[in-house]
Amino acid sequence: SRAMRKFIVGNWKMNGTSADLAEIEAIAAMATSYAASVDSALCIPATLIDRATSRLLEYTLGGQDCHMQVSGAHTGCVSAEMLADAGAALTLVGHSERRAGQNETDADIRGKAQAAQNAGLKVIICVGETLEERDAGQALEIVLGQVQKSVPDEAGSDWLSIAYEPVWAIGTGRIPEDSDVAEMHWAIREQLVARFGPDGKNISILYGGSMNGDNAPMLLAIPNVDGGLIGGASLTATKFEPILAAA
Ligand code: G3P
Repeated sequence: SRAMRKFIVGNWKMNGTSADLAEIEAIAAMATSYAASVDSALCIPATLIDRATSRLLEYTLGGQDCHMQVSGAHTGCVSAEMLADAGAALTLVGHSERRAGQNETDADIRGKAQAAQNAGLKVIICVGETLEERDAGQALEIVLGQVQKSVPDEAGSDWLSIAYEPVWAIGTGRIPEDSDVAEMHWAIREQLVARFGPDGKNISILYGGSMNGDNAPMLLAIPNVDGGLIGGASLTATKFEPILAAA
């Protein structure tokens, strides 16, 4: 709902080594200066979470994915418990790059979201249609199906947010028409309220895909856009700050 504080989240994707800890610190310091009015977090590579959180006790850092099981024979995977143990307070799940690149299904994403909540993490479940699906007039159906199947029955606004990221808007500099964003966010809201009752009104629905300091004021003013999930423009404090200022 529009009465909510905006939630602005950066996603560094597979970018960042120890050389970037200073930039993470700069982002945390910048975001903390907006903390009275805007909620913010940064999802960084899992390898940096422990070192970054040991410096930044005040700022919310997160992971970008987790496994759906607590531990076991899953070579190369990171569990939600491991993220939490490293100091993360939230995680993304179901980013389109993982749905496409790692063949993650809605059922996988639902399991991951539930595992993350069990580990005490806040969770952002990502959804979004491809350009082919939008051109075929299927965007609403695809995205609402993803929300229906990826969001666990135990969802609550105290731990879950949704990020709507049209795949064709990610990293392309293209953004949808305001009216398309409004339509999608309204439809997601309606589904959340139908499924979860009044608490569905309080689940933040973020927009993601080429959000930057120039378009953030317009995007964040659209009804039911409760914040943003930002890739490229979250990589430096200088680019990220105008988005927090707009929120
Ligand atoms: O998760 C955020 C992301 O997919 C959007 O990336 O670079 O278009 O802001 P970007």
